Amino acid sequence: MTDLQSLIKQMTLEEKAALCTGATAWSTTPIDRLGVPEMYVTDGPHGVRRAAEAGAFISQSLPATCFPTASCLASSWDGDLIRKLGQALGEECIALKVDVLLGPGTNMKRTPVGGRNFEYFSEDPYLAGEMAASLINGVQSQGVGTSLKHYAVNNQEYERFSISAEVDERTLREIYLPAFETAVKKAQPWTVMCAYNKLNGAYCSEHHELLVDILKDEWGFEGFVVSDWGAVHDRVKSLQGGLDLEMPGPKDRRVKAVVDAVQAGELDEAVLNEAVRRILRIVFKAAETPKGAPNGGAFDVETHHTLARQIAAEGMVLLKNNGLLPLKNPQHIAVIGRAAENAHFQGGGSSHINPTKVAVPFKELQQLAEHAELTYAEGYPTDNSFQQPLIDEAVTLAQAADVALLFVALPSFKESEGYDRADLDLTSQQVALIKAVAAIQPNTIVVLNNGAPVAMSEWIDDVAAVLEAWMMGQAGGGAIADVLFGKVNPSGKLAETFPARLIDTPAYLNFPGESGEVRYGESLFIGYRYYDAKELPVLFPFGYGQSYTTFAYGAPRVSASTFKDVEGLTVSVDVTNTGALAGKEVVQVYVHDRQARLVRPPKELKGFAKIELQPGETKTISLPLDFRAFAFYDPAYRQWVTEDGEFDILIGASSADIRGTVTVTLQSTLQLPCILNRESTIKEWLAYSRSKPAVEAQIKQLMSPMAAAFGGGIDGNDTIGMDTMTFLMDMPLLSVLQFQESAFPRPVEELVDDLLAQAYS
Ligand code: BGC
Repeated sequence: MTDLQSLIKQMTLEEKAALCTGATAWSTTPIDRLGVPEMYVTDGPHGVRRAAEAGAFISQSLPATCFPTASCLASSWDGDLIRKLGQALGEECIALKVDVLLGPGTNMKRTPVGGRNFEYFSEDPYLAGEMAASLINGVQSQGVGTSLKHYAVNNQEYERFSISAEVDERTLREIYLPAFETAVKKAQPWTVMCAYNKLNGAYCSEHHELLVDILKDEWGFEGFVVSDWGAVHDRVKSLQGGLDLEMPGPKDRRVKAVVDAVQAGELDEAVLNEAVRRILRIVFKAAETPKGAPNGGAFDVETHHTLARQIAAEGMVLLKNNGLLPLKNPQHIAVIGRAAENAHFQGGGSSHINPTKVAVPFKELQQLAEHAELTYAEGYPTDNSFQQPLIDEAVTLAQAADVALLFVALPSFKESEGYDRADLDLTSQQVALIKAVAAIQPNTIVVLNNGAPVAMSEWIDDVAAVLEAWMMGQAGGGAIADVLFGKVNPSGKLAETFPARLIDTPAYLNFPGESGEVRYGESLFIGYRYYDAKELPVLFPFGYGQSYTTFAYGAPRVSASTFKDVEGLTVSVDVTNTGALAGKEVVQVYVHDRQARLVRPPKELKGFAKIELQPGETKTISLPLDFRAFAFYDPAYRQWVTEDGEFDILIGASSADIRGTVTVTLQSTLQLPCILNRESTIKEWLAYSRSKPAVEAQIKQLMSPMAAAFGGGIDGNDTIGMDTMTFLMDMPLLSVLQFQESAFPRPVEELVDDLLAQAYS
């Protein structure tokens, strides 16, 4: 174990400043004379994008397994599987001499049109946090680091380098931060990557509250914060804000700026030392696991391809099935759509992987349907043009077949890192193609390749089945065949709502922002929280996905019907496979607060489990619900708060398919501090003084002249037709007293200050 403090003492100011800026696009600065090695990082998140040429910023990368992107991963709802994926990524990092993989990304899907949604897990912070933690634990179990990104509130591509996300504190704490919090607390990523954008006016790369107060101090993050590539604007301010490593390098002027600032007394050297300590700790940790040749210098391409196939199949979501699937011995299948020959399995941008091999869907289908005749038509062009002859050709082919299998991929000019989507639509050619084929072939199946929801209302009623195959990774072609032919029983469930129309989506009126700001006006209500609260119909709800078998749920049970918040409780349910095929079910636990002081979403996901069941088999699932499952973040107290009262625990097969409910009573153990002041309203005074009857009595007494002036007592209706107490509730106590100053012998401010002194005593 290197003694970091004594090492830091030996370092010159220049060496310290240099360590805090990259040496190249992908590596940290080594200090040979002190034995500090270089550390190599690379993208991420669903594969290893190791540049082929040393020092190259963007170039052809070395071959690596392209696993499914995060939308698909999260739809598996399978933490163990995601952990296995992480282990495989770790092995590839070792083989490709990578110390830290730049991922996972765990930003919330605030709107379905976010350009990078395919790289993110979910619209739900609980699910996203669990997935991120599993992936990190998997990678790091191999002695390879991760970079949890993009911290924070990086939910759109529009003006992503500069826009200020304007988010209230409660929304930040309940929606945009918890996935990061869970990942940090459960998995300690070696690094966290700050976002490009601003949060409430300050760059995330300089945001002390975000990087130091919350991430490092409150959550206990032990690693270092790295900038997103090019996110630093002022190196000194960013160091002061808690940003340890700036990437990419080299940037001599940045090093000089840090040295100058320390020498001029503008930057406390202790701040620099802390950044250096954090970076050194990880650099030496990385060095403990030798990379490249000593560990074989290669990874098992075939095993990883097989794993990629398994994960893809687990994440695919069967959205519709009129019984046609799984396919049983069709004679002739018309395979239509370019994506059948040119698999669309990943998104554009920094996550783009050079795959070791690619499973071509058409070939994979042919392999599993040995005796069937498979024909192919392109169906749509690579660009946005409309080409009727391609549709005509497809229709002719479909007419002659038993089944039409349409592979429809959302083209990269509509979906990629760097730009948001303009709409939820497929191309007009793709829509026309689906409609034309479905019109003449009742056995039409649509397989979708996309990273985020698309609109389907125009055609979904006309087709027999729809499989959401996502950006499915290099082996996805095989996984599609597995699912269509029933080698794998689909078990993926949506980790995000598929809305019916863009106009229905939560951020619709507050996206993408203007004049440098995007206001998160929908606050807590993103994803299903919004659709639930508005009772809006959706195309497919959060948590939804079909299987080739059926599951029955027993009545939920709880370990205690009355419980203390700090103790939590366990909810259990029996699930039975009532169909004829083995299958997997994702059981979801939501919590509904029956009554709260602050507005709360109708229900929130707080637990889930994926289980495998043979036909007729029953398993019991038990899931713990802790303090946070019931708490909300109260911005007035700046802490997580529970309140006494009843909660419904809902067990669902999706957010819209609740199979059982049990009601429990929570006893809060919180002692909230007094936060009263001269501005506090009567309502706030009375809420607080419940535990201090003497204060309550005095308040009522002080208010009585005012109540009398209204013509009634404080507990009754008065002569001007209203309930006096309700009328006064939202007025500050001081304002009420000021109306009747003459009734009191002393200045009313003194009376309120006296009461405050008693309240705080
Ligand atoms: C992306 C990051 C990525 C980095 C390095 C940035 O533009 O936002 O996700 O890790 O580039 O390629």
